[in-house]
Amino acid sequence: MSAINRDASVEIKKVRPTLRFLTCGSVDDGKSTLVGRLLYERKLIFDDQLATLEKDSKKHGAVGEEIDFALLVDGLEAEREQGITIDVAYRYFSTEARAFIVADSPGHEQYTRNMATGASNADLAILLVDARKGLLTQTRRHATIASLLGIRHVVLAINKMDLMDYSQATFDQIVADFTHAASELHFASIAAIPISARYGDNVISLSDKMPWYSGPHLLAYLETVDVENAVADQAMRFPVQWVNRLQQDFRGYAGMLVSGRVTVGDEIVVAASGRTSRVERIVAMDGDLTSAAAFDSVMLTLADEIDISRGDVLCHPKQRPDVADQFAAHIIWMSDEKLLPGRSYFMKINGRSLTGSVTEIKYKLDVDNNAHIATKTLSLNEIGFCNIALGSSIAVESYDANRTMGGFILIDRFTNTTAGAGLIAFPLRRAKNIHLQAQLVSKGARSHIKHQRPAVLWFTGLSGAGKSTIANIVEKKLLERHAHTAMLDGDNIRHGLNKDLGFTDVDRVENIRRIGEVAKLMVDAGLIVLCAFISPFRAERQMARSLVEEGEFIEIFLDTPLEICISRDPKGLYKKAFAGEIKNFTGVDQTYELPTSPELHIRFMNEKPEEIADRIIEELKTRNVIHV
Ligand code: ADX
Repeated sequence: MSAINRDASVEIKKVRPTLRFLTCGSVDDGKSTLVGRLLYERKLIFDDQLATLEKDSKKHGAVGEEIDFALLVDGLEAEREQGITIDVAYRYFSTEARAFIVADSPGHEQYTRNMATGASNADLAILLVDARKGLLTQTRRHATIASLLGIRHVVLAINKMDLMDYSQATFDQIVADFTHAASELHFASIAAIPISARYGDNVISLSDKMPWYSGPHLLAYLETVDVENAVADQAMRFPVQWVNRLQQDFRGYAGMLVSGRVTVGDEIVVAASGRTSRVERIVAMDGDLTSAAAFDSVMLTLADEIDISRGDVLCHPKQRPDVADQFAAHIIWMSDEKLLPGRSYFMKINGRSLTGSVTEIKYKLDVDNNAHIATKTLSLNEIGFCNIALGSSIAVESYDANRTMGGFILIDRFTNTTAGAGLIAFPLRRAKNIHLQAQLVSKGARSHIKHQRPAVLWFTGLSGAGKSTIANIVEKKLLERHAHTAMLDGDNIRHGLNKDLGFTDVDRVENIRRIGEVAKLMVDAGLIVLCAFISPFRAERQMARSLVEEGEFIEIFLDTPLEICISRDPKGLYKKAFAGEIKNFTGVDQTYELPTSPELHIRFMNEKPEEIADRIIEELKTRNVIHV
C-alpha cells in the first residue's frame, strides 16, 4: 500500500530525532481514525487512494457519508469486515519539524500480543480513551504494558469529546482517574489532550470548541516532546549472529550492535566465557569503519583466535553483563493455552534459541489497581512476575538496562506459536556455588554389573487403561529374569513424594516433572524404571523423555478406548466424575493428548494383560535392554 509517503523521514533534515510512537486503545475508541486523520491532514495520502477511501467508506465505513479514516489504517480487507485491527502496522510520516514512525496496535482484548510487539521500540504511547466510557481496564492494561516495555512518555488522548459536548468536567474526571491509576507506573511525562478524531478537534490544530483547554494540540505536542534515546551511550553489546570463516586466516563475527559503541583497538570480552581479545577490524557493507554504534550491522575481526560461537555476546571488559541460567522476569501471556510452571518452552533471547521453563509465578498483576495476586498459572493477556530457568547459561541483562538484551519471547514447543513476551528484571544467582560433581562410578558401570541396559518404560493412557496392571506383570517377568527394576506408579507416588499435588493442569505438569527427574536418577543408577502415569500432556512426556539419553525412553501407549475404561471403572472414579463429585477427571472433563509416536502402541484387542506383558518383554530384548 503506497498511500503513505514511506520515505518522508529521509527527505527533510529534522531538528529532533524521529519519534517512534504507538497508539493503543479499545475497539471503537477511534485509534485508527486518529492516525488516519494525522496522515490525511498532512496530505500524505495520494488522490487515487483518497478516491478508494471514499468508495470504501460508503461500503464498510461506520460514519455515514463522511470519510472513515479508520479504513485507511486498517489495512486488511478481512479486518475491515470484522471491524477490528489485527496486526501491528508501521506508518511513516513527516512534518517540517519532525519525522514519525507510528505502530498502530490493535485494541481487541486478545491482541495484546501485537501491542507488545509494536511497543518494544517505541518512545511514546498514545492511549486513547473514549470520553463517553471513561477509563477502562483495557486502557489500564495498555498503560501497564507500555510502562513494562520501557515507554516513559504517554499521551492520554481523550477522544469523542464531541459526543460529550466538549465537557471539561468529563475530561478532568478521566485525567484524574488516569493520574491515580498511573501513579506507580513511573512515566516521565503524561500529557492529556481532549480531542475529536472524527472532526479533527485538537488533532493538528487547536479547537475553538474547548476554550478551557490551554495545552498544545496533539501534533504540536508530538513535534516537540523530548524523549531521551540514548541507546548509543549504553554499554556495548554485540551478540554474534554468525561466524564467518569463508576465507583462511579470516574469522569475522557478524551481527548487529544492539547498544553502545565499538572502536578499532577496543579490548573486548566474551560475556559467558570471559575470554578476551582486541578489535582488529570493523567491516561494514561499504568497507572498514573505525567505529560503529548501536543498530549498525557489522563484522568484527579480533586480534586473537578465541572460541566464540553464535549467540555469544561481545562487550567491553569493564561493562560485562551477568551470566546466569535463571532470572526473574515479567511475562505478558498471549496464548489461549495457560502458562504452566514446569512446562518446557522454547525461548528466544537476543537472537539465541534455547529451552526454558517458569519455575515459579511470584504473582500476577491486577491492572486495575497494580495489586499483586497469588496465582499458579497465567491466562491470556495476564501479566505475571516469574522466575525462569534456562537450559544453559547466557548473558543476562535487565530490560530496563537494555531493551534488546532484556526482552525475550516464549514459544509453544508443539504449535510453534509465540505464547508470551518477557522482560528480564534481574538475574538469579541461587545456583552460583553449585557445580556438577564428577563421579567415579558411571551409569554404564552400574548397569553393566546388572547385565542390563537402563531404561524408562513409560506407561501412558487413561485411568483404567491397564497401566498399573500391565506394568506390574512386566516387572514380575523382569524380576524372573534377574533384572534390576524400580516401579513408580501414579496412585502410590501421590501418597508420598507428590502428596501435595492435585489434578489441575498445573499440578499434573509438576507431577510428571518430578517423576521425570526421579526416573532419570534411577536410570543413572542403572535400573529399568517402570512409570505408570496417565501423563495426559504431550509436552511433559516429551520433557521426561528429554531427561534421559536417546533410546533409553520407551513410551508405551495403552490405547484402551474411553468406553472400555468407563465400563471397567476399577476404582469407581468414572462414576464419581460423571456425577460431578470429582473435577478435572481425565477423559471426562480433562483432555488426554494422544501420543504421536510411542515406541509401543498397544491397541485394545481383547488380549490378556499377560500377553501384552510378554510383547513388552520381547520388545525389551530386541532393544537389548535385557538379554534373556
Ligand atoms: S497424572 O495425570 O498426573 O499423570 P497420575 O497418573 O499421577 O495422573 O494419577 C492418576 C490416578 O489418580 C488415577 O489412576 C486415579 O486413580 C486417580 N485420580 C483421582 N482423581 C483423578 C482425576 N481427577 N483425574 C485422573 N485421575 C485421578
